[in-house]
Amino acid sequence: MERVYNFSAGPSTLPEEVLKTAASELVNYQDAGMSVMEMSHRSAAYSKIIEEAKQDFIDLLSIPDNYEVLFLQGGASLQFAMIPLNIGTKNKKAQFINTGAWSKKAISEAKKFIDVEVLASSEDDTFSYIPDLSKIDIDPNSDYFYITSNNTIYGTEFTSLPDTKGVPVVADMSSNILSKPINVSDYGIIFAGAQKNMGPAGMTVVIIRKDLIGEVPETVPTMLKYSTHAENDSMFNTPPTYSIYVAGLVFKWLKENGGLEAIEKINTEKADLLYDYLDSTDFYVAPVDKASRSKMNVTFICKDDALNADFIKEAAAQGMVNLKGHRSVGGMRASIYNAMPVEGVQKLVDFMKAFEAKHS
Ligand SMILES: Cc1ncc(COP(=O)(O)O)c(C=O)c1O
Repeated sequence: MERVYNFSAGPSTLPEEVLKTAASELVNYQDAGMSVMEMSHRSAAYSKIIEEAKQDFIDLLSIPDNYEVLFLQGGASLQFAMIPLNIGTKNKKAQFINTGAWSKKAISEAKKFIDVEVLASSEDDTFSYIPDLSKIDIDPNSDYFYITSNNTIYGTEFTSLPDTKGVPVVADMSSNILSKPINVSDYGIIFAGAQKNMGPAGMTVVIIRKDLIGEVPETVPTMLKYSTHAENDSMFNTPPTYSIYVAGLVFKWLKENGGLEAIEKINTEKADLLYDYLDSTDFYVAPVDKASRSKMNVTFICKDDALNADFIKEAAAQGMVNLKGHRSVGGMRASIYNAMPVEGVQKLVDFMKAFEAKHS
């Protein structure tokens, strides 16, 4: 079977060049006589790999010196607990925007440790929009303000942040990290699981403002303290060595291809291809509010619900897979992360047109 266009929401498609480099180095990494998988994480060869990955990541996002970058395990989901445990310690209160399933999980985990206030939610309309943040009431005594910057399941994305009057903004960027330039200084913590826009599952990146890596109660497990990982350069214990290596290759691929400004242009082109077509027809329905549309996860359904299953089956037969929407939304979802080429999206749009012509 040839390689397909994989529209999976995560783990997701990786740049073919990166996979080929990893394949060519799989058995004997750059004359080290062994695979990266077999190397001590404390060896000179591996130190170079992790240091370069970190530096390339810092370069891509222009991360200022007053931030620490950590490569952790436990998925983005572990951050739902680590964040309140580490930075919810002063006033034991945080404010959240609820934009979907991942926000809800973060909220319920935080509630185990601190007081949680939900300032706005789009649950009233199946999370099809990003709430208006111009009128929210930020409590200056809140330890942090939390958003999910891109909502993988529903296909919505934040395009701006409210003025939080100094309260640190925490953002789950699992599904849109590195898709566009951002101003890291607007955030207290940014975190993301690797398996959508960065590499294979297993690594979680945390960007944290250094002054937030403070003292935490004695009862917090060592592995759950940011200070443990910051003091040990993400090497307190064995890091997810191979995931970090492949993510490092992805960071180099991004740098070689013009960095985040260039990838943002391509991501916009891909998203426009799909949304422009969706807007031109009433055969398909795009349920998300136009101003809230995600450039990473594009959700749509056939107006005639009975056709959705056929769409997914026929697309797969033509080499476009994993287009089924999340079970809570139904229909289709095309995840078009950085590594999805424009050709993949063009092929999908051509297929959508042909499918429409066949069934109208
Ligand atoms: C926005 C968002 N946050 C968190 C997660 C959970 O990530 P993990 O499986 O790494 O815990 C996901 C996974 O799909 C996600 O899309």
